[in-house]
Amino acid sequence: MQRPKISIIGAGNVGATTAHIASLKELGNIVLIDIVKGVAQGKGLDMSASMPIEQRDARIKGTDDYEDIKDSDIVVVTAGLPRKPGMSRDDLLKKNSDIVASVSENIKKYAPDSIVIIVSNPLDAMVYVASKVTGFPKERIIGMAGVLDSTRFAYFIAEETNVSVEDVNTMVLGGHGDMMIPLVRYSNIAGIPLSHFLSEDKIEAMVERTRKGGAEIVNLLKTGSAYYAPASAIVDMIEAILKDKKKILPCSVYLEGEYGAEGIFIGVPIKLGRNGVEEIIELELDNDEKKAFEKNVEQVRELIEKVNI
Ligand code: APR
Repeated sequence: MQRPKISIIGAGNVGATTAHIASLKELGNIVLIDIVKGVAQGKGLDMSASMPIEQRDARIKGTDDYEDIKDSDIVVVTAGLPRKPGMSRDDLLKKNSDIVASVSENIKKYAPDSIVIIVSNPLDAMVYVASKVTGFPKERIIGMAGVLDSTRFAYFIAEETNVSVEDVNTMVLGGHGDMMIPLVRYSNIAGIPLSHFLSEDKIEAMVERTRKGGAEIVNLLKTGSAYYAPASAIVDMIEAILKDKKKILPCSVYLEGEYGAEGIFIGVPIKLGRNGVEEIIELELDNDEKKAFEKNVEQVRELIEKVNI
């Protein structure tokens, strides 16, 4: 059996960290591409040199030639600008939609059978752009956001309750913005409801911190946005696909009536396996959750309307 091939477009903070974690997990051979000549090549070479110490067989090739992504099993798109303090993800819309559109043309041309994971922000609109440009079936075009938002929520809960991170299960629904919906009713610690461990106020504070989790890091870093947890979240998705794990993960996928939404990409729980999106899981929502989801849908629609493709 040949090693799987994972291509990562954008060799910046998120892209390079993803390549590093994926190589340490020996998930496959990696192609790292950037528009700035030398960046992907340099980082690829540097990472490759760590493989003998790490005792991992993964080739990491840096390049600026899209032909190198040929026959990829998975293509991850992290190309684009990150946020600066004071910017919302939506402020990135115009620049990043041009970048994601041009990257998507190349994916369509050179890796037409790949499963595509979009990471560039504003996420739900960028997945839409990639879907329009590639024309790939909805099973093979997926946005990474919910896995990141859920791991942030899980970390805050584990820290506050002083339990193992392994025991915390969380689910975050909706768009990747400040209105995202951490689902308290569908989150638990070792199967036990959060309310057993935490007061309502504490839970609400963590929900709010999760919504603003990205901004908290942008404000601290000042020169860019988060990348360690985003990269871990991407690798979780890559692993679920390549190992056909059929993991239940919240991802931004195309809805055709599920959750009452039609014709947009937004975060919902899916079953992720070797065929990509294998099932959309429709949770029962209460009235407040439904209302919040509808608001998220409206917001994502407004964004998409501003995208010119
Ligand atoms: N093709 C390939 N690479 C590109 C292109 C392009 N058309 N345009 C920009 N890039 C590259 C940049 O040269 C840079 O190396 O994308 C990389 C982005 O890296 P960073 O600036 O470090 O940004 P990062 O933190 O990795 O975030 C990338 O992911 O989480 C999102 O909001 C974030 O949209 C941002 C994206």
